[in-house]
Amino acid sequence: MELATRRLLLPFAFCSLIFAFMLLPVFVKARDTAIDAAAFDFKLPLGITRDLWSYFVPKDNPMTAEKVALGRELFFDKRLSADASISCAGCHAPERAFTDGKRIAEGIGGRTGTRNSPTLLNAMFNTGQFWDGRAESLEAQARLPLVNPDEMGNQTYEQIVMRLRGVPDYAKKFERVFGGTITMDAVAKAIAAYERTLVAGNSPFDRYQSGDMNALSSTARSGMILFRGKARCNVCHTINQGFGAYPFLSDGNYRNTGVAANVTGFAAVSRRAMQVASDFKPALLAELSKQSDSPLLGRFIVTGNTLDIGAFRTPSLRNVELTAPYFHDGSAATLADVVKFYVKGGNENAFRDWQLEPVDLSDDEQHDLIEFLKALTSDEARRLTEAGSK
Ligand code: HEC
Ligand code: HEC
Repeated sequence: MELATRRLLLPFAFCSLIFAFMLLPVFVKARDTAIDAAAFDFKLPLGITRDLWSYFVPKDNPMTAEKVALGRELFFDKRLSADASISCAGCHAPERAFTDGKRIAEGIGGRTGTRNSPTLLNAMFNTGQFWDGRAESLEAQARLPLVNPDEMGNQTYEQIVMRLRGVPDYAKKFERVFGGTITMDAVAKAIAAYERTLVAGNSPFDRYQSGDMNALSSTARSGMILFRGKARCNVCHTINQGFGAYPFLSDGNYRNTGVAANVTGFAAVSRRAMQVASDFKPALLAELSKQSDSPLLGRFIVTGNTLDIGAFRTPSLRNVELTAPYFHDGSAATLADVVKFYVKGGNENAFRDWQLEPVDLSDDEQHDLIEFLKALTSDEARRLTEAGSK
């Protein structure tokens, strides 16, 4: 018996040793790339620390100036769409704070999707990409608009890669940055690296937080008190400070405030969702997600959890003054409309977030709250939009 154990132990020890050696280069590499991210020469705005930013740079896609420049070029290149009519910037325009200002996005041939284009400022810090968080990273996200029939309209990734390989300048740049021929993986990595430079802080709120008590007007200050108190915004759009803080005025969660519930058809599709959840099979969920009214279900499509029916990510409120219209479906035209929505406690529905309730705010208080939201605008983002509108 003892001998048998020993016979087993030896190969086990041997294998562990081999395994440890196999992992060694991985550790060494991870260390190297972490150093790369720190070394990338990039000035972060007030309010966003380097530690926080570095945390959101994945080890397998280190930042370099050349990669960012390549990603930027791809982001603005209409040739990434099937008919060379629209680039990423077509819906995420710098002069509109990286949105399109439309209620619902318009893609190739004027086709409309189902959702409002979110800003890409600080998108790198999102807990998941898209309003329902269905993409895990910027790299995973960047591929999807390219083959979305309502967005950039390509049939396959192969098509895009072949098209880009036909541009000698791109071939050279990819070779330099990634050391090989153009692949979809490299395209996504370059675009994501560029997006990790779209960082916006340096707002009156950041200056106030860092000790400049005059950075906020007295109306914005009373708006902030309401935001944290009576208006209950802080329950989901968290303002947290100090070590490990996530300074984006979002809890990173998915919540049902009833925006989708206001649309005819929500009751019907949520009944189907309940059915799928009760005899849960991934295939049933996949089937449901192909139906045209499924975007109303929000996060449910990702998790299959009934608590997520009609839930969407609590968005960051930074730069919100510049990104109208609001909500995942663009159904609120102004910040005043948004605040009115909260005064009545969102839209009643069976899945509404239990923490959402009507709040009693006078007209003056609503005004102050909006002044606080406007104090979340980054100076640089404001300058970009002002330059663009001239
Ligand atoms: C036709 C308009 C359109 C085009 C073109 C487009 N997007 Fe978007 N983008 C959207 C919409 C709409 C959403 C939200 C969709 C959803 O949540 O289901 C979105 C979401 C995103 C998000 C997630 C942000 C967040 O806060 O969740 C990122 C990142 C993004 N787009 C990057 C890109 C990149 C990179 C490209 C080019 C490869 C691109 N987009 C092309 C409309 C567009
Ligand atoms: C129960 C959680 C919760 C509370 C409380 C809450 N929000 Fe929200 N907020 C959300 C979610 C979730 C969304 C996205 C909803 C959607 O699009 O379906 C949102 C969206 C918004 C938007 C639109 C942002 C954009 O980019 O479209 C603004 C502005 C906003 N909230 C401000 C506020 C203010 C001001 C308060 C307090 C009066 C508040 N919120 C209270 C969860 C909450």
